[in-house]
Amino acid sequence: MQQKITIAIDGFSSTGKSTIARKLAKELGYIYVDTGAMYRAVTLFAIEKGFVGDDFYDEKKLVSNLSQIKLHFVFNNDLGFAEIYLNNDNVEKDIRTLYVSNFVSKIATIKEVREKLVEIQQEMGKDKGIVMDGRDIGTVVFPDAELKIFLTASPEIRAKRRYDELIDRGDKVLFEEVLKNVTHRDFIDSSREISPLKKAKDAIELDNSEMGLEEQFDTILSYVNNTIEKTPLDS
Ligand code: DC
Repeated sequence: MQQKITIAIDGFSSTGKSTIARKLAKELGYIYVDTGAMYRAVTLFAIEKGFVGDDFYDEKKLVSNLSQIKLHFVFNNDLGFAEIYLNNDNVEKDIRTLYVSNFVSKIATIKEVREKLVEIQQEMGKDKGIVMDGRDIGTVVFPDAELKIFLTASPEIRAKRRYDELIDRGDKVLFEEVLKNVTHRDFIDSSREISPLKKAKDAIELDNSEMGLEEQFDTILSYVNNTIEKTPLDS
């Protein structure tokens, strides 16, 4: 029997964390959790309830209504990954719009939001055998994770990836607008007071600007296999 480990994948937005994490979880038979989807779902809730919008922001109201938010994931066999549900509605598509992206980093600075989501994430990973991606997985959620990866890529390349994704799904967006969102989120994510995005000391940094998916996957899988080999069964 092989030891199950915890794999934390952090990095800037649109570095392809979810794609790689999902593929890795499938290969290993592990659970995959996209924590960005959780922050996005809370943001969608805040927008729908009218706590957040273009010219208003009521953090207090959101915080006092946090207990109304129930999140869960359901594996979709056709898609091959788990979709997120907000209060029993599948919101996988609704949370990926540029409108939600424009507010999510701000919502992710709220202490109470982070506390709630980190608690759920730690519960999901308590038995190991999990690949979780986000911004604070290796630093806050699972500081003892056996393997931590920190993904980076240039802002232009990341914006191009996100732009292609949005265009593919039929959204009408401008490249400049997407680039602005990506760099703005980098700034908020890395400068916020609570759990800022930063590389954990023991994380392996991988710049995938010039790497294809297969190359990245093979590289990370070799890190995983080395780590599993080094991890004793009873740890
Ligand atoms: O990975 P993503 O782009 O879907 O994440 C959306 C936002 O959520 C991102 O701008 C920062 C925030 N986030 C976070 O603060 N902590 C996490 N663990 C995951 C995401």
